[in-house]
Amino acid sequence: MDKSKPFTIGVLTSGGDAPGMNAAIRAVVRTSMTHGANVLGVMDGFEGLINGEFRPLGARDVGGILQRGGTILQTSRSPRFMEPKGQREAIRHMNEAGMDALVVIGGEGSLHGAYALHQQGIKVVGIPGSIDNDVWGTNISIGTDTAMNTIMDAVDKLRDTASSHHRAFLIETMGRNCGYLAAMAGVVCGAEVVLIPEVPVTVEDVAAAVEDAYKRGKAHAIIINAEGSNIPTTELAKAIDDKDVGFNTRISILGHIQRGGSPTAYDRLLASRMGVKAVEVLLEGKSGVMTGLKGRGIEYVPLEDVISNKRTANLEYYEMTKTLAR
Ligand code: F6P
Repeated sequence: MDKSKPFTIGVLTSGGDAPGMNAAIRAVVRTSMTHGANVLGVMDGFEGLINGEFRPLGARDVGGILQRGGTILQTSRSPRFMEPKGQREAIRHMNEAGMDALVVIGGEGSLHGAYALHQQGIKVVGIPGSIDNDVWGTNISIGTDTAMNTIMDAVDKLRDTASSHHRAFLIETMGRNCGYLAAMAGVVCGAEVVLIPEVPVTVEDVAAAVEDAYKRGKAHAIIINAEGSNIPTTELAKAIDDKDVGFNTRISILGHIQRGGSPTAYDRLLASRMGVKAVEVLLEGKSGVMTGLKGRGIEYVPLEDVISNKRTANLEYYEMTKTLAR
């Protein structure tokens, strides 16, 4: 390490944006400055690392961003970074810029990228940022709470119209291959049925549950379908309508509204705590770890464990939804 210049930390956001990423960037910058380290913001995730698109970030550059959704550094999904050639280019640019370490804020795929750099001798700390909550090693990722609140708000509104028309609403949530958002939505939105990738079901199962809700005198049926479930939303809606279960069916695919918006208090706090911890961990000389919420504390876990384990939906929530849907 060159002792004649301040320790320089790069920070990037990668993969799908998540509310609270800006709060994490702000915490990385201001904690670094408090410890006398410099920060370089890397634009467009790993793409910017490959292209050498860096800009110095000071305290004022991260003012007014705590409450903003998205990411001021912008983001990308970078197939180029999966290749050794892309990684070599990235390391070359980091060395040229005098970057001593890197904070990677992102989901599962991004943390694989962080681990690849660590294996090549780069000092890296990951921060889990993804609405999907599919990252192993932390109770929750940055952005999940905000997305959950967005889903809850949308489903509350859809229930008003569903009840007024005696309809079944089939609502598709994001989450890729993880059913965390859908399983939790089942409880907090009072759904009648939830479909998650972790528990395959048949169209007959779903239709029977909806018909049963109708027979029990319900004014509506809310069906939450995780995008990664085994039955596509449009196919499921058609099948339920064909079976004449009592309710007419309408579809609502929530899509990318789940990724936007101002982060909740919970996400701002989580992101701030993780940003502070990431810098502290780097300045202690550690690398190849990710910040994770365990119990009430922010700890760090090896990236190797993070990427080799799979985080799945909480099946307690899935079962609870059935019990509470009576
Ligand atoms: O990982 C976040 C996420 O929103 C997933 O829930 C979803 O499957 C995916 O990203 C969508 O990706 P894109 O914005 O690239 O279409």
